[in-house]
Amino acid sequence: MAKLPDGFLWGGAVAAHQLEGGWQEGGKGVSIADVMTAGANGVERTITPDGVQPGLNYPNHEAIDFYHHYKEDIKLFAEMGFKAFRTSIAWTRIFPNGDETEPNEAGLKFYDDVFAECHKYGIEPVITLSHFEMPLHLVNTYGGWRDRRLIDFFVRFATVCFKRYKGVVKYWMTFNEIDNQCDYNREFSMATNSGLLFPKGSTDEDRASAMFQASHYELVASALAVKAGHEIDPANQIGCMINFTPMFPASSKPEDLFMAEKAMQKRTWWSDVHVRGHYPAFMEAYFKRTGYRPDITDADRAALAAGTVDYVGFSYYSSSTVAHQPDNPAYDFVGDKEIVPNPHLKTTEWGWTIDPQGLRWSLNWLYERYEKPLMIVENGLGAVDQVEADGRIHDPYRIDYLRAHIAEMEKAVNEDGVDLLGYMPWGCIDLVSAGTGQMDKRYGFIYVDKNDAGEGTLARSRKDSFYWYQHVIQTNGENL
Ligand code: BG6
Repeated sequence: MAKLPDGFLWGGAVAAHQLEGGWQEGGKGVSIADVMTAGANGVERTITPDGVQPGLNYPNHEAIDFYHHYKEDIKLFAEMGFKAFRTSIAWTRIFPNGDETEPNEAGLKFYDDVFAECHKYGIEPVITLSHFEMPLHLVNTYGGWRDRRLIDFFVRFATVCFKRYKGVVKYWMTFNEIDNQCDYNREFSMATNSGLLFPKGSTDEDRASAMFQASHYELVASALAVKAGHEIDPANQIGCMINFTPMFPASSKPEDLFMAEKAMQKRTWWSDVHVRGHYPAFMEAYFKRTGYRPDITDADRAALAAGTVDYVGFSYYSSSTVAHQPDNPAYDFVGDKEIVPNPHLKTTEWGWTIDPQGLRWSLNWLYERYEKPLMIVENGLGAVDQVEADGRIHDPYRIDYLRAHIAEMEKAVNEDGVDLLGYMPWGCIDLVSAGTGQMDKRYGFIYVDKNDAGEGTLARSRKDSFYWYQHVIQTNGENL
C-alpha cells in the first residue's frame, strides 16, 4: 500500500467511563454510566436513575481500572508506536454534580498526570469532552439536556478544561456521537447522549420532541465551547464527533434511492449544524411539517454561526441498507424501521455489518460535503477472544477487519484526495462495551483479564494484533 502522509496520527481510542473505573475516587461524582447495569448480546442495559441498587452488576465502576493502571497502559500504547491517544474527560471528575461553580482539583490533577504520561512518549492526547458520561445529578434535577441551563454548565466545564490543559491538549471534540439520538426509541441513546429518561407510556412524539430540544441545546453548547476554546488558545483544533453509518439503498428502485437520501439527512443534520453553523433547509422544513418546535432563539442562531468546528471526527463500524416502506409517504427515517439486511455483507457476532469499502465511501462523502479535515476516531471489531494455554491470544479476525478498513482508508487519502488527520481504532485496550456493558465483546490490541461477570486479575497481555498494528504504524501504513 502507499504510505499515509508524514505526521499522520496513528493511535487508538477509548472513553473515560469505559476504562477508568475509580468511580468514587478523587472526589468523582456519579455519572449516568455509573447507574447502567451489564446487559448481554441482544440484551439492553438497565438504567437505575435512583442510584446504585444492591445485587446488580455495574461494570463501569471498576471497568479495567485505568485509573490505577494508566502508566502501564500508556507505556503499552507507546510500545505499539501510537502517535495519538483518544480518551474523554469524565465530566463528573471535574464537576461531580455538573452544576457547581468551582471545579474539583483532584479530578483535574488526574488528567494532568494522564496527559503528561502521553507526552512523555510523544503521544498527542485527543480529547472528547462529553462521551456518554454526564453527571447523574443533571439528569435527575434538570431532566438532562431538556433544560437550557445545561448549556452554561457544559460551557463552564469545557472552559475549565481548555484553560487547564492549554498547550497540553490541542485536539478536542465536544459531544461523542451526537447523532445517535436519531434513534430516539432506544432508551440507551437518549440516556447516554442527553440524560433523557422517559416514563412508561411516553409516545414517539414525546421522545422526538425532547430529543430535538436536547440536541439543539447541545449544538449551542458545542458552538459556544468551540468559540471559547479558540479564544483561550488559537492553536486549539476543536471538532465534532458523529457516528457515521452510511445508508445505502436496498435496490435501484427510485423509492429506495430517495429513502436512502432521507435516511442520510436524518443522521447527518447534526454535523451539518456543527460544520456550517446553521440548520439545513430540510430540517427547518421538517420542523414546520411535523410541528416539532424546539426553542431556538436568534442568539442561539448567532452562537451556532460563530462556533463552527475545525474538523470532523467520526466513528465508522458498519454500513446500513434501507428500503422504502409503503406506509411511509413522507420518507421519514425513524430509528431502524427502514433498515433491511444487506445480502452482500457479512456481520459480526453482534449483528454489525462488515463493510470496509463503506469507509472509503464515508470519507469521500464527508470530505465532499464539508471540505474540512476528517479524523477517524473509532473503528474496529468487537469479538470474543480466546486465551491459549501458553497465554497467547491469536486474533486474525481482528487483523483482517482492520487491514481491510485501513486499505480503504489509504485509497481515500491517496487516490481520492481526502484530508485525513488520523486513525484511532476503538478500544485499543479491552474495555467495557458501551452498548451491552460486556467485557467479552473485545476490541483491543491489548487483552485485559476480566470477564462479563467482573472476574479476573486485570492483567494486561499483548494479542497478535498488537504486533501487527505496531508494524503498520512503523511503516506508516505501507505494510499491512
Ligand atoms: C461507539 C461509542 O458507539 O461505539 C463507544 O462511541 C462504543 O463508546 C463503541 O463503545 C462500540 O460500541 P459497543 O457497544 O460495542 O461498545
